[in-house]
Amino acid sequence: MDVAAGNPARTRDEDAIGTPPASPTLVPAERYYSPAFAALEIERMWPKVWQIACMVDHVWQPGDYFEYRCGPYGVLIVRGDDGVLRAFQNACRHRGNSLCVGSGSGLREIKCGYHGWTWDLAGVLKRVPNRKGFGSLRMSDFPLVPARVEVWEGLVFINLDVNAAPLHEYLEEVPDDIAWCNLGEFRCYATLTVDVEANWKTIADGYSETYHIQTLHPELLRCVDDIHAPQRIWGHTGKSDQPYGVQSPRFEGRLSDEEVWDAYVYTQGALMGAAEGTPFPADERLPGQTVQDVIAARTRAFAATRGVDLDWADTDRITRLHQYNVFPNMTFLANADHLTIMCSRPGPDPDHGEMVMFLMTRLPPGAPHTKPTDIRMSATEAEPGVVLTQDIQLLPGLQRGLHQPGFTHLVLSSEERRVINMHRNLEHYLDLPEPERMTDGGPSVKT
Ligand code: FES
Ligand SMILES: [Fe+2]
Repeated sequence: MDVAAGNPARTRDEDAIGTPPASPTLVPAERYYSPAFAALEIERMWPKVWQIACMVDHVWQPGDYFEYRCGPYGVLIVRGDDGVLRAFQNACRHRGNSLCVGSGSGLREIKCGYHGWTWDLAGVLKRVPNRKGFGSLRMSDFPLVPARVEVWEGLVFINLDVNAAPLHEYLEEVPDDIAWCNLGEFRCYATLTVDVEANWKTIADGYSETYHIQTLHPELLRCVDDIHAPQRIWGHTGKSDQPYGVQSPRFEGRLSDEEVWDAYVYTQGALMGAAEGTPFPADERLPGQTVQDVIAARTRAFAATRGVDLDWADTDRITRLHQYNVFPNMTFLANADHLTIMCSRPGPDPDHGEMVMFLMTRLPPGAPHTKPTDIRMSATEAEPGVVLTQDIQLLPGLQRGLHQPGFTHLVLSSEERRVINMHRNLEHYLDLPEPERMTDGGPSVKT
């Protein structure tokens, strides 16, 4: 059987590298740990970009609220009595106290816990205790300061810049490219926030390239074609897609179907409801079918147990992982029955950050909306599957290595071009002077 089956990228001869550049791209290492650089990000980048904050199910009902934090910034997202979703900077107009902490339901008004200034859910100031002490204080002068909030496919994004371009413009080609997948039918059952000893970019880089699979994820390599994984860059956004259920061509010779199946079950069997150690169901394979076809059939059957019809999805729709990156800090990985959203956020200093995972499942249309369970844990406690655990456990050593005095630059390949693109966007927002910019790899050469 041909290992290229179900892998159109191979027949198109597209790989993850594309056309090589003349030389590597060199990115100054300092930007991964310098407090001054982190301060510049906080001043010039974070207040300007769209960021995924929560799921629409966190704020589905009037009175539901969610406090989003990113570095020093706090945004309060609240569903008004009128059903409108609004966002505000989370600061009392009196002396700045944070108005809400965490998330919850049943909010009727927004009352500061310090001296009691109170706003309605639309951000209009309603009450100021002992108001006469302020002299002539006009209530209309002190509404809550608004932030932008928009929802795409059930994902709530915020932007502190009220003049920012709309979210759908920011997302560029992504919504059209993934429209076939009906992402809005996925519901988030849990969010997992992991505190890690790494810069937010160190975290994000890990989910912006497939170059590391062959070394860091040896089990995964047995069931993904990491070579024929073409990438695209739009502007703020980019994409890689990778066929699963086939071996990497890096192995000399062929793995058996059983070996590919075992690796898939071991690394992501849960996607088709297969417990660890589930043997290859050779008897289920119809004449001419590949391992991918068997995985697709099992995935369809597993979806059916949740009332989800996947008959519209062929083998490629179920086994090809479509991974999108949205600047600065978000990625989502999708196929017909899988959606995982990840983002990274700055921690208290440049050597710390948060990795946030939104765990989703496709439900039948019309399924009730329930709030996700929000879980927070340390990197040593977190074991979100064999592959992600490998990613998380690498981070502290990676962050420490970046500090070494002899390590001045990251040396990047075009295989890592989504990392390069993140830096290109970052430099644009920070308006870095020329000497502090990365050194471009130069024009492509035909080899
Ligand atoms: S700080 Fe909020 S009422 Fe004083
Ligand atoms: Fe990884």
